[in-house]
Amino acid sequence: MTTTFTTIASLRDTLKPLRNDKSIALVPTMGNLHAGHIELVKRAKANADIVVVSIFVNPTQFGVGEDLDSYPRTLEADTAKLSDAGVDYVFAPSVSEMYPVMPPPTQVLTGTISQQLCGKSRPIHFDGVGLVVSKLFNIVQPNMAIFGKKDYQQLTIIRQMVRDLSYDIEIIGAPIVRADDGLALSSRNQYLTESERQIAPTLHQEVVRLADKLAQGAHLHSDQFASSSLDTIDNKTALCNLQSLINETIHRINASGFNVDYLEVKTQDLSDITDAYQDKNLVILTAAWLGKARLLDNQEVQVNTP
Ligand code: PAF
Repeated sequence: MTTTFTTIASLRDTLKPLRNDKSIALVPTMGNLHAGHIELVKRAKANADIVVVSIFVNPTQFGVGEDLDSYPRTLEADTAKLSDAGVDYVFAPSVSEMYPVMPPPTQVLTGTISQQLCGKSRPIHFDGVGLVVSKLFNIVQPNMAIFGKKDYQQLTIIRQMVRDLSYDIEIIGAPIVRADDGLALSSRNQYLTESERQIAPTLHQEVVRLADKLAQGAHLHSDQFASSSLDTIDNKTALCNLQSLINETIHRINASGFNVDYLEVKTQDLSDITDAYQDKNLVILTAAWLGKARLLDNQEVQVNTP
């Protein structure tokens, strides 16, 4: 039986007596739930006694001209899915319940990590995420919280926030859930037309192609495209090779009908790669427009050095 709360006080009153002898997991969402969210719920259920799912389309993480008004709101269908998935409590507050004063005078600044990648085109986004997640943490006071790896930068920023603000909360990152053709599941996929939906898996295919090349250490070879020569090259040349492989991938994605916002390769803590031979645990991150939809994808790569 799933109970839905719309006020902070009622959720707090319910959770208070339970937390003495039960562990609580929080799954923060903006609703319009799909199989990816249900996977987060499964992780939560496997790890905690009580699962709370929040559904809140958070205005502070949307910039001017973004899809705040058109973002799909499907509370009834979402609650039914969460009930089927065995969720205990849904927290679905109004904007005024979460933000008595708008814009909220108190801010969470998430720093330089949020200025890169998605932050370049969405400058206020991650501070808004930091603020709402920090409020949800204070309201629910969970033992753990589950976030999807599709939003890799968001997950990294939340981990940083938990460390910097000393939240006693374990952050669990759950793998990306994909459609059969490889497209990462996202509420924004429904902005795609039928023909765009046919093209959409190309993004993942190209990321996988690049990931395979990097895993083989193609950028560390003198001929990175053939990856046949094992001649030793210096770090600067390897970094140039890496950039050529990235540029080639961007070109291929754009040629299929996307408009790439960014495609970058970073270390898994989202630092720049400075030593192509030492930095072996990498992540490819991309955001690309396809019609009205801005799709995200990423893939972690372990480089095998020659
Ligand atoms: O990933 C999301 O859906 C949102 O950014 C989150 C974490 C629920 C905060 O609004």
